[in-house]
Amino acid sequence: MCGIVGYIGESQAAPVLLDGLSKLEYRGYDSAGIAVYDGEQIQVQKAVGRLKVLSELTHDGATMPGCSGIGHTRWATHGAPSGANAHPHYNQSETIAVVHNGIIENYLKLRKRLEEKGYQFRSDTDTEVVAHLLDRYYKGDPVEAITKIMHRVEGSYALGIIFKEHPGHIYAVRKDSPLIVGHGKDGNLIASDVPAVLKYTRNVYFIQNEEIAVLTGETIAFYNVDGEEIQKGSTTIDWDINAAEKGGYEHFMLKEMYEQPQTVRDTLSPRIKDGSIVIEELGMDEEEIRGIRKIHIVACGSAYHAGVTAKYVFEGMARIPVEVDLASEFRYRNPILMDDELVIVISQSGETADSLAALREAKRKGVKTLGIVNVVGSSIAREADRVMYTWAGPEIAVATTKAYTAQLIAEYLLAVKFAQARGEVTEAEVEGYLKDLQRLPDQIEMLLSNKERIQHFANRYIAAKDVFFVGRGIDYAISLEGSLKLKEISYIHSEAYAAGELKHGTISLIEEGTLVAAVVTQENLYKKTVSNMVELTSRGAFVLAVTNAGNREIEKAADYVVYIPQTNKYFTNSLAIIPLQLFSYYVAVGKGCDVDKPRNLAKSVTVE
Ligand code: M6R
Repeated sequence: MCGIVGYIGESQAAPVLLDGLSKLEYRGYDSAGIAVYDGEQIQVQKAVGRLKVLSELTHDGATMPGCSGIGHTRWATHGAPSGANAHPHYNQSETIAVVHNGIIENYLKLRKRLEEKGYQFRSDTDTEVVAHLLDRYYKGDPVEAITKIMHRVEGSYALGIIFKEHPGHIYAVRKDSPLIVGHGKDGNLIASDVPAVLKYTRNVYFIQNEEIAVLTGETIAFYNVDGEEIQKGSTTIDWDINAAEKGGYEHFMLKEMYEQPQTVRDTLSPRIKDGSIVIEELGMDEEEIRGIRKIHIVACGSAYHAGVTAKYVFEGMARIPVEVDLASEFRYRNPILMDDELVIVISQSGETADSLAALREAKRKGVKTLGIVNVVGSSIAREADRVMYTWAGPEIAVATTKAYTAQLIAEYLLAVKFAQARGEVTEAEVEGYLKDLQRLPDQIEMLLSNKERIQHFANRYIAAKDVFFVGRGIDYAISLEGSLKLKEISYIHSEAYAAGELKHGTISLIEEGTLVAAVVTQENLYKKTVSNMVELTSRGAFVLAVTNAGNREIEKAADYVVYIPQTNKYFTNSLAIIPLQLFSYYVAVGKGCDVDKPRNLAKSVTVE
């Protein structure tokens, strides 16, 4: 995710900003920029690529005089990585500069209104609307202008702002995107994450949702959304720099699992407007959607598992045939693709060699293509006819968690959209789907808050030799991902099986005490999977069941049960995967494995 730093004090600001941004590099970014008030004007410098380029451009900040400023590392969301889209962004008269993390969901509407009022935009970003909006509402009091825009902007934001008319201050505000204030000896700082300020201070304030901070070199004041001053206590940070990079979590994987309520929300909410699903980037009207006869989903690894889920969801909900292929197979099997079909390529990195080659194969055959991609401006995002981004932010742990759950959300949205366009669902059903989707972030949070129970269970299986994951339908798709998570980070041999297939060979591997995780969330298949569980326990397996709240019957057939909250049958993957992610994580931690960087694996597989 993007990084924010701001500084005001006795020292030259630019070197402090560059240093702070360097501590946020681990979060991933594609461009960087800083804005400094030099005594006369707000100077901005930006550069695409590594922070080093910006440091060279400014001679490590030396060419930018001034003791107050803001800086940013950008992970592209709206608009490709480019100089124009890099932050900070100005208002028209260059008297206000803004850096932003998060997503302004109603930016298109705001941009249109501002353009009608004569504001000219220089970038494709959602952030620039904030600079122009501030300009529109600024009448001499920055806090008043900030509170006004808070009432108008929808979505998530952490903002660092400087006003030329208030050179002795920097301003910060946040909603659903983190921001802290550091109280230093020779100046005060803002940052999106603790590591950026640790060199200067360990005394920090955590800004809460919809709070505003106003910093001078010596003072820090806080205001609420009504512009009333509020009092806040500071916290002393005692983490070392490594722990701070991980936000206090032991591993990036754990941090990323905990980000899932937010990344699911970020992927979902910009696409639900006034009670309906709006996927502008799909670029297809209802008639075009109705004209699609078949969908091919192509991906690798976890993205493929997300694709297997999509098959069940699309076919069940929208009654459209779906074929799912591993990209490494698809590219060599000379697939039969027709004009009225759609190929969806799913990829976190957007750079996976097989997935990219599969996309090119589909394009060569003239079929419509859509990328579901996390990294903006990546090869798959650029080459697909259309791209729908998952707003999961940078994922650092090799084992994907938050990108996978964001992919599921993108698929659900598409499936509901297709089902609606094809007349396969009623308005009431759509309303129900949207309600269930919007509940997912809180439900994920609830499951994460139960981590101790999973941790306790996982500790018993540190020495396991083999673990099996079984399920039917969507539960089989969940099992595939649960199994991959376990094997990739804990090095325990694991297999996922469609539960009904066990009898056809795999059941011979079950011994006394073998752990089998049975995923049982599809009500119409409960009885079927339960009879497989009975077959397993009678052969000595220890069965862990992951099932829906209320399905107490299962306790008769399982040795240990984890319940997930109630949701629509199509969306259970988003919940059932959480305890399985936690299980894998705690087994791997218990074994002392390098959780974030498992042996032999790369985050992005750019070779065949
Ligand atoms: O970047 P992609 O989504 O295209 O990557 C696909 C797979 O390499 C990836 O999902 C891999 O399986 C992960 N390590 C799973 O955690």
